[in-house]
Amino acid sequence: MTIRRIALTGAAGSLAADIIPGLLARGHSIVGIDQRTPANTFGCEFVNCRVNDRAALMEAMRGCDVVIHLAGIPLEAEWAAIMQANIDGTQAVLDVAQQLEMLRVVLASSIHAVGFVPVPTDGSLVADDVRVRPNTFYGVSKAAVEALGSLYHDRFGLDVICLRIASRFAEPTGERTLSTWLSPADAVRLFDACLQTEKPGFRTVWGVSANTRGYLSAEGGAAIGFGPKDDSERFAERLFTRSDTNASLLASDWDRAYIGGVFSSPLPPRFGG
Ligand SMILES: NC(=O)c1ccc[n+]([C@@H]2O[C@H](COP(=O)([O-])OP(=O)(O)OC[C@H]3O[C@@H](n4cnc5c(N)ncnc54)[C@H](O)[C@@H]3O)[C@@H](O)[C@H]2O)c1
Repeated sequence: MTIRRIALTGAAGSLAADIIPGLLARGHSIVGIDQRTPANTFGCEFVNCRVNDRAALMEAMRGCDVVIHLAGIPLEAEWAAIMQANIDGTQAVLDVAQQLEMLRVVLASSIHAVGFVPVPTDGSLVADDVRVRPNTFYGVSKAAVEALGSLYHDRFGLDVICLRIASRFAEPTGERTLSTWLSPADAVRLFDACLQTEKPGFRTVWGVSANTRGYLSAEGGAAIGFGPKDDSERFAERLFTRSDTNASLLASDWDRAYIGGVFSSPLPPRFGG
């Protein structure tokens, strides 16, 4: 597959800032799309619009072969806002991609689409396509993102890869994320693999690094040519030393019970607060 140009929604967000420079360095041409103006466009063309504005989105995505769809609310929030940004927004992106006969769509799903899956205690790994068990309205919206991707694949033949992104930070933020960390460099490798792989069809793939303490399968990533190189273990000693004075870094009961951790509790952390 020859990709000439990529549309990337959510281009003013933090995940976009992590992956755009790496994708440009690998020779990809990107047009960024966001409702906010980014602090840094990294030299990419940029279109300021909401993904829900289908006419504007159509113009922004015209001439692109692939869309990486990151735009949305990235944590728990009010249902109406989640529904509009994450579900309606994704349907708009898929609809425009199909109308423009684009080759491929990469959707940002989340570990919280399956956040009530129990943490394995027998050494087994959680499969890339484990059934949805959302832990929040946010998780429900990501399950809907995956369902929409499946619909557009089955109905229109679009190739759609849904990335169940685990915990993307510069470094692990606590004991739980030693298992679920996705490093910024591995995020670039993951999105690049989504662009390079031949004929992916529809699939869900974990977005996670090669963590010693990991419990999310690497099979789906390997199948699309994703070879993560980072391991959170190099942060473990320092993290446990810091936990002597900051016990909140240690795994909570929620973290030990469910892969969505405290996001699976009745009071999940919320967007903006
Ligand atoms: N950061 C992580 O660890 C993580 C984990 C799992 C999933 N994800 C998913 O990855 C994506 C990006 O996350 P992020 O951390 O960069 O979030 P972010 O909040 O930093 O960026 C999201 C961007 O989307 C834009 N946006 C929101 N609604 C929009 C709309 N209707 N139209 C146009 N632009 C809109 C925002 O302006 C923002 O710039 C999200 O879909 C999130 O759910 C992130």
